[in-house]
Amino acid sequence: MFNFIENLKKLQRSFLTPFDVYFDFGTTNTRIAIKDRGVVLRQPTVIGLNTKTKEYIFFGNEAKKIIGKTPDFIQIIHPIVNSIISNFDAQLVLIEYLFSKSVKIYLNNFRLLKPFLRAIAAVPYSATEIEKKAVEEVLFKLNFSSVFLIEKPVANAAGVSGDILSHHPILIVDLGGGLIEAAIISGGGIVSEKTLRTAGEGFGQILANYLYLKHGIILGDATCDLVKTSLLNFQNEEKIMTVRGKSLETGLPKSIRLKSSEIKEALFTSMTQIIDIIKELMEIAQPEIVDEIYTQGVVLTGGLANVKGIETFIAKEIKIKVNIATNPSDVTINGIINIGKNQDQLSKLTISPI
Ligand SMILES: Nc1ncnc2c1ncn2[C@@H]1O[C@H](COP(=O)(O)OP(=O)(O)OP(=O)(O)O)[C@@H](O)[C@H]1O
Ligand SMILES: [Mg+2]
Repeated sequence: MFNFIENLKKLQRSFLTPFDVYFDFGTTNTRIAIKDRGVVLRQPTVIGLNTKTKEYIFFGNEAKKIIGKTPDFIQIIHPIVNSIISNFDAQLVLIEYLFSKSVKIYLNNFRLLKPFLRAIAAVPYSATEIEKKAVEEVLFKLNFSSVFLIEKPVANAAGVSGDILSHHPILIVDLGGGLIEAAIISGGGIVSEKTLRTAGEGFGQILANYLYLKHGIILGDATCDLVKTSLLNFQNEEKIMTVRGKSLETGLPKSIRLKSSEIKEALFTSMTQIIDIIKELMEIAQPEIVDEIYTQGVVLTGGLANVKGIETFIAKEIKIKVNIATNPSDVTINGIINIGKNQDQLSKLTISPI
């Protein structure tokens, strides 16, 4: 009897309230959250394909672990490049897998009648209509009844500021894996925006090229990533690390000692570009906006905001206070969660037709 009433209540709830799932399809990391439950998954956006059988066999964490160590017939795919879907099939399979690992368990609680599924996902401001459609398409294929898209800078602003609809401008710079998006947001909309396509993942490739030319060494992607996260800092902390790769001359194993200062030198131009886009945004902004941003400071989000001392380095160049958001890597998903809490806010901020 008790079970029957419980099931009836669930059935009523499923009629009244939709089941909302939030997605941040990042170039490096995928994050999934559920309304009222928070973030339920964080995993690398990587998938491994067996090219002989055409089957996807490694997903997320497992796929990341084997990067650079696979036989020829295992192809490692990064389905998101520069924050947009570059391999639709791989992205669909990866998201189906990650969704089943994190959300299905909650959906199984609804035994009698499946709830009405709604998805909210962030897309870059620079995404084209086709690129946005691809995100919607993936989510519809996952059986979502409705899909709401939010521009990533707006989601980021909602992740750091309580009242996104207020007319208090905020300059936020997302230093992600595939995109650096700097934007001024005010009144729930984007006032101006600048994008760079060389971000965290690109930094790894720049390092690989630099070390190849300077030391004649070929390093794998995973090693370059480790070098970047271990050595890069803007606190004048001179860390040293020995890495092993292949000699360009002999093709045999070769070790070199790398210093933080060398890594900073390799990435100097990329860092300058970040500073330049922030300055450009300030240059084109209205005087009132400049004034308020000058008082509030610039906010950094995204994985690269974890680089020690990056805020002081940028602040010194732009001559404005720079703050790192709390938990910078989760700002986008937290912003989507905040927007999703309030239907009125969601209706105002979504770029999808309602
Ligand atoms: N301490 C660190 N030092 C250097 N780089 C870091 C550090 N922590 C994270 N990163 C880099 O941050 C990037 C990932 O950031 P993030 O998770 O914000 O990206 P994403 O959301 O997946 O990508 P995007 O939003 O650009 O599509 C990676 O390139 C990673 O190597
Ligand atoms: Mg991101």
